[in-house]
Amino acid sequence: MSSAITVGIITVSDRASAGEYEDHGGPALRDACGVRGWAVDAEAIIPDDLEQIQRTVRAFSSQGCGLILTTGGTGIADRDVTPEAVRGIMRLEIPGFGESMRMQSLAITPNAILSRSLAAIVDTSLVIALPGKPSGAVECLGFVADAIPHTVKLAKGVPTSC
Ligand code: MTE
Repeated sequence: MSSAITVGIITVSDRASAGEYEDHGGPALRDACGVRGWAVDAEAIIPDDLEQIQRTVRAFSSQGCGLILTTGGTGIADRDVTPEAVRGIMRLEIPGFGESMRMQSLAITPNAILSRSLAAIVDTSLVIALPGKPSGAVECLGFVADAIPHTVKLAKGVPTSC
């Protein structure tokens, strides 16, 4: 079984999916994956819709993405449902990812406290729900990046030692 990291990126935004503005979060995350040597195999821009988020995460997982990054919908607006969508289909949550992202982001902006960012195992994939602001998404990914390769292997069931 390959241990290379293949990534799916999902931009969750009503306005970006409707074409009201250009998606900058997805491309920013694609670049952040590229510099780490991770291959982005799937990308989508979808509205803040719980079932559509769940369907897209599951589709990316079944097509082999070991890491699925979402950006957007982690805040406290009416339409922010990304955490609920991921929790509705996960096997388990890994709280340390959300704790680390919030804690380190608070050194950058007090508004980081508003993000309910999280990581979870869905099927055989690691799903990380990142904030919607492109710089925030990239920052948060950077805060947990070192733990990702090992977690992706464990999610896939690849034998690994700590
Ligand atoms: N985290 C980092 N590192 N940098 C940021 O700029 N923005 C915050 C927060 N987390 C931010 C951040 C803001 S302003 C909000 S509202 C929340 O993420 C939720 O964003 P979302 O609803 O677009 O996911």
